[in-house]
Amino acid sequence: MGEKKRILTGDRTTGKLHLGHYVGSLSQRVALQDEYDTFILLADVQALTTHFEKPELINSSIYDVAMDNLSVGLDPNKVTIFQQSQIKAIAELTVFYSMFVSVNVLRHNPTIKTEAANYGYSDMTYGFLGYPVSQSADITFCNADLVPVGEDQLPHMELTRKIVRRFNDLYGETLKEPTAKLSSCSRLMGLDGNAKMGKSLGNAIYLADDAKTVLDKVKQAVTDKNRINLKDPGNPEICMVQKYHKVFNEAEHGNICDMCRSASIGCVACKKNLAEKLNNMLDPFRERRAYYENHTSEVKEIIMAGSEKANKIGEETVRRVKDAMHVSID
Ligand code: TRP
Repeated sequence: MGEKKRILTGDRTTGKLHLGHYVGSLSQRVALQDEYDTFILLADVQALTTHFEKPELINSSIYDVAMDNLSVGLDPNKVTIFQQSQIKAIAELTVFYSMFVSVNVLRHNPTIKTEAANYGYSDMTYGFLGYPVSQSADITFCNADLVPVGEDQLPHMELTRKIVRRFNDLYGETLKEPTAKLSSCSRLMGLDGNAKMGKSLGNAIYLADDAKTVLDKVKQAVTDKNRINLKDPGNPEICMVQKYHKVFNEAEHGNICDMCRSASIGCVACKKNLAEKLNNMLDPFRERRAYYENHTSEVKEIIMAGSEKANKIGEETVRRVKDAMHVSID
C-alpha cells in the first residue's frame, strides 16, 4: 500500500463558519479524512486582505474556525490543523511565484472581480489582488493532491495549476499539480433568496447557532409569495424552503413538494420540519463545540502542533524550490 494522498483546504478567519461552508467543503473534509492525509488551513493572512482593519476579529476567529472544523467531526488525531501566518514557506513561495504571474491575469480573475465589487473596492490593494498567488503557495507548499472547495474557488485552482506548470517548465519538475474537488452542493443559496449564503450578506445560519436561532432564521425564509392562505396550492419551485429540504432532508423532499402543490402542508409546518432536520444535524456539532469551548488550551495545542508539522514540510519544499531556481550561493 502506497502513501495516502494529501488534501489541503482552508477558510479565512473572518468569523464563524455557516451551513454554506458545511455543504460546500466541510462535509467533504469529514468524509475524506480517513482516505487522505488532510491539512486544514486557518487562513489568517488571507483574512487580512479584506479585514486588515479588524485584527482582533481575525485573531478570535482563528479559534472559532478551528472549533467549527473540529465540531463537524474532523478528528484532531487524523488531520493537521494549522495557522497560515505561522508557515514561513507560504510567505516565501508567494514571493517567488509572484515573479511570473501577470497583473492582468489577476485582474481578470472572476472571483477577485466579484469580491472587489462586493467589498466596494475602487482601488484594490496589492495584497488583495495578489491573494490567489498566496493561495497557490498554501496549496503547493505541502504538495497537496486534492483541494475540496466551493465553485467560487475554481479560478484560484486554475491559477495554481498554471503556476505549477510554469514553474516546472522554467526550473524543472519540482511542484505537484493539484486537482480541485467540488462537492455535490458547492453553493448554498440564502434562505432570503440571495444566490449565496454569506456572512457579509446577513443571511447565514452558523454552525454554532443554537436551535432557537435556527428556527427563527428558517421562519424568515422566502416562500411562494402567491400562496396566501393555507388552502392555496403552492409552487415549491420558487420556494427557498424547498431548496433546503432538497439539500438537508432529501428523504422527504419529493413528498413535501407534492404536499405543497396540493395544499396539504402549510408553510409554517414545512419550515418547522426543516428547522428540525437542521437542528438534528447540528446537535452533535454543538456537543463537540461545547467540549472545545471548555478546553480552549487543547485547541491551541492542536493548532500549534499542526503548524509545527506544516512548517517542517514547508521548509523542505522551499529548499527544493530554491535549488530549482538557483536561489543560493554556489
Ligand atoms: N479562499 C478560500 C475562501 O475564501 C480560503 C482559502 C485560503 C483556501 N487558502 C486556501 C481554500 C487554500 C482552499 C485552499 O474560502
